[in-house]
Amino acid sequence: MQKQSSAEQIQKKSRRAYIIRRIGMWILVLFLLDVMTFGANNRIDITKYTYKTDALSVSFNGFRIVHLTDLHNKVFMENNEALLREIRALNPDIIVMTGDTIDASNHTNVADAVMFMEQIPEIAPTYFVHGNHEHNLPKSVLSGFEEKITNLENVHFLNNECVQIESHTGQTLSLIGLDDLSLQANILKTLADEAPDDFQILLAHEPQYLKDYYAETGVDLVFSGHVHGGQWRIPFTHQGLYGPDQGLFPKYSDGVYTEGDTTMYLSRGLGNSGFPVRLFNHPEIVCVTLETVSGDAS
Ligand SMILES: [Fe+2]
Repeated sequence: MQKQSSAEQIQKKSRRAYIIRRIGMWILVLFLLDVMTFGANNRIDITKYTYKTDALSVSFNGFRIVHLTDLHNKVFMENNEALLREIRALNPDIIVMTGDTIDASNHTNVADAVMFMEQIPEIAPTYFVHGNHEHNLPKSVLSGFEEKITNLENVHFLNNECVQIESHTGQTLSLIGLDDLSLQANILKTLADEAPDDFQILLAHEPQYLKDYYAETGVDLVFSGHVHGGQWRIPFTHQGLYGPDQGLFPKYSDGVYTEGDTTMYLSRGLGNSGFPVRLFNHPEIVCVTLETVSGDAS
């Protein structure tokens, strides 16, 4: 009888130890997930590329373009100081932004977006287009934002427009900003045909039109966003889980894509929209340096 009860006690103890171990394991898993998620949403990756071309004057050699996208009203430390510090350290010649600066889902904050647009041109001239989220805002909210930023010095809103970017010797390239609502129209072809320079850079929010639309016009470079790297990324691969307008395992989720003579840089972006968590997917700033190689351009 005594033997049986001590056997029962041993069984109870080992069962208790098993339960404690399981609880401890789950706490550890949740802790690691939490740490990774905080990192995945707040630690900014800087991705640097060099684009070699013989189509530009040597005066553009070393010209540095910093690309930001899909901020979605995220703020990196007070007044975005952490984000601004990273951009400043890259010493860009220009900054380009490809939309979804303001979030339209559940954390719209026009004041924060305006504050960022006031701060960023102190680093370099800034050119930006709207994404789908700006167009999902109530019209009065969007026009309020546009009114506040159109008079800012060194901030250029490209609403289906082309501007010329000058090198330090006065050579130029064309920068085209395509509004997200215009993707299905023939506007890009017209803009590219009328652009004054042979070398053309396109800012366009959505990347999935690279083959059938952007490359068809013959632009040299495209900067794009929209996919947030697939929101959750599969570790040790270059594959995102889901992309808007592309579905599961999107073809375009991040990195460099070429189609004909067109190269597209697709950033994972900085923030989140409705679904609040990135996983294995740090916010990203892309920096492209132009490298001119000898060619006809002079
Ligand atoms: Fe977005």
